[in-house]
Amino acid sequence: MAPDSGAWGGRQVVLGVAGGIAAYKAVELCRRMVDAGAHVIPVLTEDATRFVGALTFSALASEPAQTQLFTGPNHDGSGSDGVGDPIPHTRLGQRADVIVVAPATARIIAKLAAGLSDDLLTATLLATRAPVVVAPAMHTEMWEHPAVQENLVTLRRRGVHVVEPESGRLAGGDVGAGRLAAPERIMEAVLAVLTHSSVSGGSGTQRCDLAGARFLVTAGGTREPIDPVRFIGNRSSGKMGHAVADRANARGAAVTLVTTSGLAVAEGIDVVCVATAAEMHTAVTARFDQVDAVVMAAAVADFRPKAVAPDKLKKADGAPEIILEPTVDILAELGAAKRGQVLVGFAAETEAVAENAAAKLTAKNVDLLVANDVLDPQAGFEVDTNRAILLDSSGASEETPLLTKAALADVILDRVAARLGRGPTTPDQEMR
Ligand code: PMT
Repeated sequence: MAPDSGAWGGRQVVLGVAGGIAAYKAVELCRRMVDAGAHVIPVLTEDATRFVGALTFSALASEPAQTQLFTGPNHDGSGSDGVGDPIPHTRLGQRADVIVVAPATARIIAKLAAGLSDDLLTATLLATRAPVVVAPAMHTEMWEHPAVQENLVTLRRRGVHVVEPESGRLAGGDVGAGRLAAPERIMEAVLAVLTHSSVSGGSGTQRCDLAGARFLVTAGGTREPIDPVRFIGNRSSGKMGHAVADRANARGAAVTLVTTSGLAVAEGIDVVCVATAAEMHTAVTARFDQVDAVVMAAAVADFRPKAVAPDKLKKADGAPEIILEPTVDILAELGAAKRGQVLVGFAAETEAVAENAAAKLTAKNVDLLVANDVLDPQAGFEVDTNRAILLDSSGASEETPLLTKAALADVILDRVAARLGRGPTTPDQEMR
């Protein structure tokens, strides 16, 4: 990624390094952030120093690596542990513009979720109001363990940004999910957080501005069956819609999430699992009258096979002729029926993004349309980040920078909150 010293310049980044084999990759991350213009302060757990020496980080970072919570006159210190500062964690927490934990082990994730503070890194994580980005890395079995996934749900609900690990070669020659995200992906997520937090306070903050509001959110791609084993689908992972549901829930709303995705969901969210556009239509319309706002982030199929074969189609019978018919346009139907609800649609575009989105805003009678360019590798389907053009029915529009999906969710929810009379400004004032 090209350095963006504008956003990175002088920003105080506490780089937390936990004890996993991927700790060696944090050295490269540290170097890249320093090169980009950030002031990087490495904080290593004791276990991290078993994998990489503090001296390596000290040589590359903006100041010496720190490893100890308890320092002072009786500590032998060896010069790099903030000797003499009795409260290094609060100083670090207060100085930080962002705290990045890479690699984040299952253990550090569990400690952060539980609020445990027993070393310098965990104490710093509790003693900060800065946004936190965690990049997990661990073996596939650990990564998929429900305890780890539930802890991550807790962290996301609190506004922590999670850079999902990748699949690939792991320690010991195993292959699977759990490899630390590439440094450029972590950099992108941190940059998105820094950019957003410098504009509007980030999504790490806890707000209760949506307390009592009722939200209906859709997520994921629908699957339209061809036969019992095949379907017409799309690339939606559900991350965008789940981020909206998570952030609305964290901000106090009562949230119902109609989703096709198997992604973990924060406690307190009412989940309705669906597969097809018709099931999503039924689930959404049944609840529409009871909510204050609807956010349609799902990628709903526009067409489905007219007839579903009762048995698996046989290759020997030749290429099948599949006749399609249109599905119901759920959003357009809600737009025609709304009585005071705030209606947010998304537009997945590949060309003339603003123009096509503006046409959908009008045709579907929505209050806010979030248009994303799904050809942008950092935006749209599957990735953890997104950037969008927000079009308001009043005519106002705003282009967001690259944000994490959680941060974009907060931008959208700010607009909805304003329309519900809960925000500090009207959408017009904010977007002009
Ligand atoms: O899930 P991710 O991997 O995180 O990816 C996120 C995303 C790219 C799916 C998301 O950001 C997004 O763009 N969602 C909308 C996808 C879409 O269906 O776009 P569209 O332009 O085809 O539809 C416009 C709007 O109409 C959408 O709000 C859609 O939910 C709605 N629609 C579409 C068809 C239909 N039959 N019924 C609908 O309600």
